[in-house]
Amino acid sequence: MKLWKTALLGAGAVALATGSAQAREIKVGFVATFSGGLANLGEQMRRGAELYHNLHKGDLKGDTIKVIFRDSKNPGGAVAKSVVQELITRDKVDIVTGLVFSPNAMSVAPLVTQAKVPVVIMNAGTSFITNMSPNLARVSFTMWQSGYIMGEHAAKNLNCKTAIAGFTNYPPGKDSANAFKNGFEKAGGKVVDLIPMGGPAKVPDFTPFFQRAKDKKPDCFYVFVPAGNHASAVVKAYGQLGMKAAGVKLIGPGDITQDTQLQGMGDAAVGLVTAHHYYADLNTPTNKAFVAAWKKAYGADTTPDFVGVGGYDGMAAIYHVIKSVKGKITAEKAMAALKGWTFESPRGKIMIDPATRDIVQNVYIMEVGMDGKRLVQNQKGVFNAVKDKCKELKIGRCGK
Ligand code: PHB
Repeated sequence: MKLWKTALLGAGAVALATGSAQAREIKVGFVATFSGGLANLGEQMRRGAELYHNLHKGDLKGDTIKVIFRDSKNPGGAVAKSVVQELITRDKVDIVTGLVFSPNAMSVAPLVTQAKVPVVIMNAGTSFITNMSPNLARVSFTMWQSGYIMGEHAAKNLNCKTAIAGFTNYPPGKDSANAFKNGFEKAGGKVVDLIPMGGPAKVPDFTPFFQRAKDKKPDCFYVFVPAGNHASAVVKAYGQLGMKAAGVKLIGPGDITQDTQLQGMGDAAVGLVTAHHYYADLNTPTNKAFVAAWKKAYGADTTPDFVGVGGYDGMAAIYHVIKSVKGKITAEKAMAALKGWTFESPRGKIMIDPATRDIVQNVYIMEVGMDGKRLVQNQKGVFNAVKDKCKELKIGRCGK
């Protein structure tokens, strides 16, 4: 964390700043999990944001950014709320960003509404979050983008007539399972069980949940777990229980094949089909350049993943706000700048929907394969410019 602060205030940026009388120092409060078992998520996000900054810091024409990192510690919401309160009242930040977990983003919504501080959400994916405050814009994803498409795809193209959805039991998990069920049943399938599988803070023993699913013999088993350290345990339980041999196909959003976790999953991952907005194996010039820049910055054995891309694109959005807003950055001006903003992201072209302040992006269908000893994700399909289906269909709090 320290390193980046130094880099941000490094010689290049300061020298540029002295050139302009109106130069501003923009304070950005960056809140993510930086400690404990989920620290890898904050680190990926920080690396993505830092990479964008290092590649573009010359663009700010005199302004500088000071990033103040704060640890939200866990997905509970309470720590995030208190650190954001402090960032606003004591540090007087101009922008808040980061926010890995949905309950953390939810807990800060009332604060930033009252304080009129803009927020760029780099991860938290529960669809209705952006309805909680007019000062929130999201560059990451919504659970309904991947879940609904996976539901339709499973019924139409994977020959699944019945399915079970297992999900980590907190808002994005409920969203993901609900989105899958809606898409799957609209396309003619039937969800025969919904299985809550513990909370996000700790990886549970998945065996009893997966055994319950196996016993019901569905064609497809759709699983959502949050990025971090759950996914390899999911694939392990699936392999150990012989579910593949029993004819149950494992599918899910790309959270369960997060690129940073993939190589640890072993053979059981081969054949897994997911839907998501980013995979490090995306075969486009923009993504190849991004992956190469990431490896150059952080090591040949590292890889970006969708959390890292959230950090990268989130920083691009913050740069856009700084460049577009003259004078003091207010929530109103920042949101006006972000509405309709488009960007050539490593994931493909993205846009902030002017009506909802939510992300519009491609959703890819990928299947895990083996290339020598390396697990790879092979593209099987793409849906362009996907909006948040939950808001389109006005489901529950998405309709408000
Ligand atoms: C969330 O809490 O919104 C969340 C966290 C990790 C994910 C997806 C969603 O992979």
